[in-house]
Amino acid sequence: TLALDRSRTGPDISDSMYGIFYEDINRAADGGLYAELVQNRSFEYAPADNRAYTPMTAWAPVADGGATGSAQVVDDAGRLNERNRNYLRLRLDGGTGRYGVANSGYSKGISVRKGASYEFTVWARTDQRSGTALSVGLRDDAGRALADARRVTVRGDRWAKYTARFTATADSTTGRLSVLAEGGGTVGLDMVSLFPRDTYKNRPNGLRKDLAEKIAALKPGFLRFPGGCLVNTGSHQAYETPDLERRRSYQWKDTVGPVEQRPTNANFWGYNQSYGLGYYEYFQFAEDLGAAPVPVVPALVTGCGENKATDDPALLKRHVQDTLDLIEFANGPASSPWGGVRARMGHPEPFGLKQLAVGNEENLPDAFFARFTVFREAIEAKYPDIEVISNSGPDDSGPVFDRAWQLNRDAKVSMVDEHYYNSPQWFLENNDRYDSYDRKGPKVFLGEYASLDNRFRNALSEASFMTGLERNADVVKLASYAPLLAHTDATQWRPDMIWFDNERSWGSASYEVQKLFMNNTGDRVVPSRASTTPAVSGPITGAVGLSTWATSAAYDDVRVTGADGRTLLSDDFSGGDGQWAKASQKGSWRVEDGAYVQSDATAEDTLVTAGDPAWQNYDLQLKATKKAG
Ligand code: AHR
Repeated sequence: TLALDRSRTGPDISDSMYGIFYEDINRAADGGLYAELVQNRSFEYAPADNRAYTPMTAWAPVADGGATGSAQVVDDAGRLNERNRNYLRLRLDGGTGRYGVANSGYSKGISVRKGASYEFTVWARTDQRSGTALSVGLRDDAGRALADARRVTVRGDRWAKYTARFTATADSTTGRLSVLAEGGGTVGLDMVSLFPRDTYKNRPNGLRKDLAEKIAALKPGFLRFPGGCLVNTGSHQAYETPDLERRRSYQWKDTVGPVEQRPTNANFWGYNQSYGLGYYEYFQFAEDLGAAPVPVVPALVTGCGENKATDDPALLKRHVQDTLDLIEFANGPASSPWGGVRARMGHPEPFGLKQLAVGNEENLPDAFFARFTVFREAIEAKYPDIEVISNSGPDDSGPVFDRAWQLNRDAKVSMVDEHYYNSPQWFLENNDRYDSYDRKGPKVFLGEYASLDNRFRNALSEASFMTGLERNADVVKLASYAPLLAHTDATQWRPDMIWFDNERSWGSASYEVQKLFMNNTGDRVVPSRASTTPAVSGPITGAVGLSTWATSAAYDDVRVTGADGRTLLSDDFSGGDGQWAKASQKGSWRVEDGAYVQSDATAEDTLVTAGDPAWQNYDLQLKATKKAG
């Protein structure tokens, strides 16, 4: 029995309580949400990003018709600009045929869909007075043409941008983009790019539509970005090049302006980030989603496996100024310096920034708080309407957590970002976590949380926990599951909310839970009390059938587990080798003393080729018969 207590008024629940946390992890940006199909388009990949990288990563020289030449990445005075320093120099020997390079995209290759349109762009220059003809082609890894080749003539020894459009004549998952030059002399190429023309909301330099639409379907109230560990800490390998300060943390100013003028950088997660998806695009995406933007800026104290605090007053001053400039970029008039940058990028109106977080998961609470205070005072002095969010470190409890909370409480910080990744059991047992939080203390931004797997019971435990968040909506003001996106060929962290490869994307069970809560946010909590957890008396038996699709790239097995942790249905996908497979099971079950007991389960697997991407729905049917007594 559920008794509603009408004598008390529960807290209001904000429409923006549930949102998303976007971080470029698991190739969420380049090779993911950012729709660019060419990997290493500006030849900037470097061992400082990842030891396996070279400036030619994802590129290979190609020749036809007996042509010879050389393809070399150079950084010299002929560069496109100071921030995009490398470019490709093609030297052509002048015989017949064509010589150039091909790009294999991300993972297995560029995904091309028959009938779809693609836009190719390149910055190029030539030392040939009569110009140099480029032949631009799309082929699969076996050399089969995927579109009619396009011809682009480069004229002049100054950098200029050239464009061509393709319509694909065949499907492929292994596409290669080739750029071949005719004749002799030297040709420079940079920012070699290929985008699907059909991006989310048709924005140029836009987002991959299926992923952006899945995110939009959540109806998130806010967008926290761009990280995560990515914010405070550059690539671990980048510490080997200490002169490159910018490599040590995320610098928002590197990510705005014309894409060809944005430098690339090492990403904490071990790959190069192009910054093509940068702060303008994040703000734009938030606006398109109807979500409040919540950027996170580095606090000059690392976390995420490293505990270092930067003791350089000039650097701190610069970062504080960068943060003030960021607010001007978001909200300032077009006549202001940074508001002008935003306006020139196409958005004269302000983006309406109201909140901003300083730092992420710092493990040194005192060092963090000292720097946080400098940021907070400077922001509040110039922009008193901006809410500055602090954090409680990397854990859900313990000495760092307690110390961070004490500092935040004492300084009357308005909101504290908490993070935790725990077992389903933890989430079930901690439904009351926020019942005892101080109603007069800082509010909570639960910026990252997940039950540690992508199984159904994880999603169920998150749903259960979220009822506790909602019940405490007067304390918990914002909450976002993490991470949001994962490429199946580049998974560094699981669980994740939305999975994808180059062709497809699908939401996890946790995605469905998030969607359910975000699309059905209440207005106000009605205090209530349940008389008891629904009980089962006597054994109940029934039949159960389950079919599901899975791939071993993401899952070892598929399992449905009873509330007591015992397996109800399971199937082993370890032989699937990345193939999509359908597993079906039928069985009977009993519930005895409230616990599931499995018996007579039979399994039937049908391997389906990756060529059959259609999603199908299967109902899980439980038929229960209550025995006498
Ligand atoms: O969400 C993945 C990582 O988990 C984030 O980068 C970090 O903040 C946390 O430790």
